[in-house]
Amino acid sequence: MEVSTSVLNVKEDNSVQTFYRIETAHTDYFHIDVMDGEFVENNTVEKMKEYADNIKNISNIPLDVHLMVKDVKKYIDMFISCEPRIITFHIEAVENKEEVKKLINYIKLGNCKVGVAVNPETSVDEVHEFLPFIHSVLIMSVHPGRGGQEFIMDSIEKIELIKNYIKDNNLETEIGVDGGINVGNVNAIKEAGADVVVAGNAIINSKDYVYTINRLKCANGDEVI
Ligand code: DX5
Ligand code: ZN
Repeated sequence: MEVSTSVLNVKEDNSVQTFYRIETAHTDYFHIDVMDGEFVENNTVEKMKEYADNIKNISNIPLDVHLMVKDVKKYIDMFISCEPRIITFHIEAVENKEEVKKLINYIKLGNCKVGVAVNPETSVDEVHEFLPFIHSVLIMSVHPGRGGQEFIMDSIEKIELIKNYIKDNNLETEIGVDGGINVGNVNAIKEAGADVVVAGNAIINSKDYVYTINRLKCANGDEVI
């Protein structure tokens, strides 16, 4: 299991020190939660741009940019300069299928992997046709907008459904899961078929980042890395 650490709730005053601690604890990615005040209520654009630039300056660990925004193209343009490993946008933010395809290609042109996110109330069927063309599908296990919420249990079934579809169709799309994940529920998430878990508060609020990230990585008997 790979772990992407959300820096959304990292406090500004000692942020660089916290980024170092997350890096030292061997996170696989830094997860950058971009909120525009429109697709979701909060606005984190400035903070996340600053964090992404700072992390890029001090670390080689890849960035995983999660756009919770209405104007997807505008924020691709803003964050592509940070050279992220992957940019994920929400299917709910996009008007029609043609537009989804255009955005997928636009991100790829920037030499970046592509993820598509689905909100808790959106059926995973909505992303089926795009799976062959994207690298990752991000199952939201909370309503996007803020960190520290409780994991929505129905997400487990959604992960299983999309996992089976990916297997049945011989696809290689990875499954990410985002929101409310901790050492207590990660085993069930892994068992359902997740490849990457995003965790914010479970890591940031823990005393020992090495221990917590290791426990998340080793979900369900995965090898210790
Ligand atoms: C929710 C964000 C998540 C969230 C993760 O809108 O996309 O990435 O901040 O934080 P926790 O793990 O605290 O739910
Ligand atoms: Zn996120």
